[in-house]
Amino acid sequence: MSALYRLKGLQYSYLWNKQQVPVLKGIDLELESGCFACIVGPSGTGKTTLLNLLGLIDSPSQGQIEFAGQDVTTLEEKHKEDLRLHKVGFIFQAFYLIPTLTVIENTSYFLPSLGYSTGDAHKTAMETLDLLGLADHANKKPLELSGGQRQRVAIARAIAKKPAVVLADEPTANLDSVTAEKTINAFKELQRSANTSFIFSTHDSHLVSFAKSVYRMKDGQIEKGS
Ligand SMILES: Nc1ncnc2c1ncn2[C@@H]1O[C@H](COP(=O)(O)OP(=O)(O)OP(=O)(O)O)[C@@H](O)[C@H]1O
Ligand SMILES: [Mg+2]
Repeated sequence: MSALYRLKGLQYSYLWNKQQVPVLKGIDLELESGCFACIVGPSGTGKTTLLNLLGLIDSPSQGQIEFAGQDVTTLEEKHKEDLRLHKVGFIFQAFYLIPTLTVIENTSYFLPSLGYSTGDAHKTAMETLDLLGLADHANKKPLELSGGQRQRVAIARAIAKKPAVVLADEPTANLDSVTAEKTINAFKELQRSANTSFIFSTHDSHLVSFAKSVYRMKDGQIEKGS
């Protein structure tokens, strides 16, 4: 298998109160294409920060990120946007659904920009919602849903476009065990059918039990768990 990500000496600091606060302190990591990997570790250790770098949302303070064989560390913003649209599905910890759009409109949001016709976008979004047990809620707005339902809409939006990689920040945090299982099965199915890679940040031991690789974050560094 080829490397999806190669991280070399990756560092990231937040600017807070006019001071640089180091969070990631030199991460060297290779993640394979087609991986199902979990990043674990206590709250505040930098898991979300790392996913934001992998998703090309933030840029590293030091070090290098290679994505699908390309050095993306200093890529121009418009090229990053293009890579994000075509290759990355991001499930944010805070969902970031668009409140004025319905569930199906949120789910199909990126598909027209990827060349889907209106009909195909609708069909794909509906199939994805069905897979996640949300078909009956397609015409509701996010505020009319429970927290776990909102989380699954965010998941549906990320996986509907069958990206090369799904970066998922605590994707099962608001789900009961049956719904979580269904969601994990949907991830596994996409991994199998489209060779989509999955990288999770999670505190959920059930999700971790499905991972092929587990990376533990500690003191701004990463140590391979198993
Ligand atoms: N915008 C910001 N400005 C300053 N500091 C920040 C900012 N965002 C995060 N941090 C700090 O960076 C550290 C890592 O945060 P991060 O969100 O990556 O943690 P996490 O491992 O995802 O935690 P959790 O498990 O609670 O989601 C924390 O100490 C946090 O306070
Ligand atoms: Mg987090």
